[in-house]
Amino acid sequence: MARFALNPFCVPEPDWSAPELAYTEAIRRGDQFAFHHALPGYAPSPLRDLPELAAELNLASLAVKDESDRFGIQAFKGLGASYAIDSVLRALGPDRPDPVTFTAATDGNHGRAVAWTAKRLGQHAVIFMPDDTAPSRIENIEAEGAEVRLIKGTFDHCVRACADTAKREGWQVIADTAYPGYMEVPGYIMTGYSTIFAEIADQTDRTYDAVFLPAGVGGLAAAGTVSFVQRHGADRPRLVCVEPDDSACFLESIDHGDGEPHQATGAQRSMMVGLCCGMPSLLAWPVIRDAMHLFLGIEDEYAIAAIRTFHSHGITSGESGASCLAGLLAVLQRDDLAPAREHLGLGQDSHVLVINTEGATDPANHARIVGSEPGQR
Ligand SMILES: Cc1ncc(COP(=O)(O)O)c(C=O)c1O
Repeated sequence: MARFALNPFCVPEPDWSAPELAYTEAIRRGDQFAFHHALPGYAPSPLRDLPELAAELNLASLAVKDESDRFGIQAFKGLGASYAIDSVLRALGPDRPDPVTFTAATDGNHGRAVAWTAKRLGQHAVIFMPDDTAPSRIENIEAEGAEVRLIKGTFDHCVRACADTAKREGWQVIADTAYPGYMEVPGYIMTGYSTIFAEIADQTDRTYDAVFLPAGVGGLAAAGTVSFVQRHGADRPRLVCVEPDDSACFLESIDHGDGEPHQATGAQRSMMVGLCCGMPSLLAWPVIRDAMHLFLGIEDEYAIAAIRTFHSHGITSGESGASCLAGLLAVLQRDDLAPAREHLGLGQDSHVLVINTEGATDPANHARIVGSEPGQR
C-alpha cells in the first residue's frame, strides 16, 4: 500500500534556536565545507539533468544529484562519517588510545563509511549489521579492514548492541541516529551531509519546485531540509520525505498528531534497507516535522521501477538510492496519491530535484532487477 501524509506541523519560517539543534547553525556556517574540500579524493558529486525523463514524466525539468560514486564508496555516507570522526578525534585530543576503536550500527552504507574513514586515519572499526544483510555489503566493510559483527534482528537491534558493547569496551560510537544521551555525533554527521546541498547551490541557479529526500533515521532528509529552509525560507521548494511503506516512522509520527516521534509499526522488510529504520533520529525529527511538506510511504515495486528507469538513463542506483525517484514515480502515477500530487502542484511547469543516494551496493540484486551487470546499459 502506498500512503501519504500532508504535514499539519509545517510552518513557513521554523525556529531552530533550541540548543540541541545547534547543528542547524553549523550547517548555516558551512563548517564542514572546507574540511571536505581538503579530503583526498574529494570532488563534488554530479548534478545531472535528465531532459528525456522529464519529458516522459511531463515535467519541465528533472535533476538528479548523483551520490553513487562519492569517495569511491558508492554512497553519500562518507560525507557524514569523515566529518564526525575528525570532530571526535579532535575532541579526544593527543592523549587518546592508539588506535581508537570506532563502532557503528549499519545496514551497509554508514558502516562502510565509518570503516573507510577509520582505515584512512589508521584507526580501528567494529561494525554491527543485521545477520540477513546482503553478503556484498558485509564484504565491502571487511575490505576496509573493519571487524563486522552480525546481529539477529533489525537495524534497531544493531543500534542497541553497538551502544552496549561500546560502553563496555570504551569504544567511540559513530551513530547516524540521535537518541537520549547521544546527540553530538549525529549532529556532526548531518552537518557533513549538508555538503551535498551546498554543492547543489554552487552547481545551479535553478530554483526547484519540489525536492524529494529519502528518510531512514532522517539525517540526510533533515540536512537537506535545513539547507533549503536557510536558503529560501518560506519560498523553499516543496519538500517530500520518502520512506518504505513498511518502515515509515516519519509518516506515522506525523499521523500520530502529537508532534512527537514514534516507532514505526511496519515489519521493516523492504529491499530499501538503508531506509528500514523504526525510529526517527531525535535531531532530525523536529526539523523534518517543522518544515517538510509531504510524507510518502512507498512499496518496493516503485524502487524497482526507479532502478530500471535510472539504468535506462545511464545512472546506477541501489534499492535505497533510487527511493527519491521511486517516490516521484509513485506520486505521478497512482490515483490514490492524487491529493499528494496536487499538494505539490506537480505538472508540466515543475522543476524537480531527486537525490540518488547510492550505487549498486548489492550488485547481484541490481543485476536481477535490470537484467544486466551494474554500469552496463
Ligand atoms: C543509500 C541510502 N539512502 C538514504 C539513507 C537514509 O539516510 P538517513 O538514515 O540519514 O535518513 C541511507 C541510510 O543508511 C542510505 O544508506
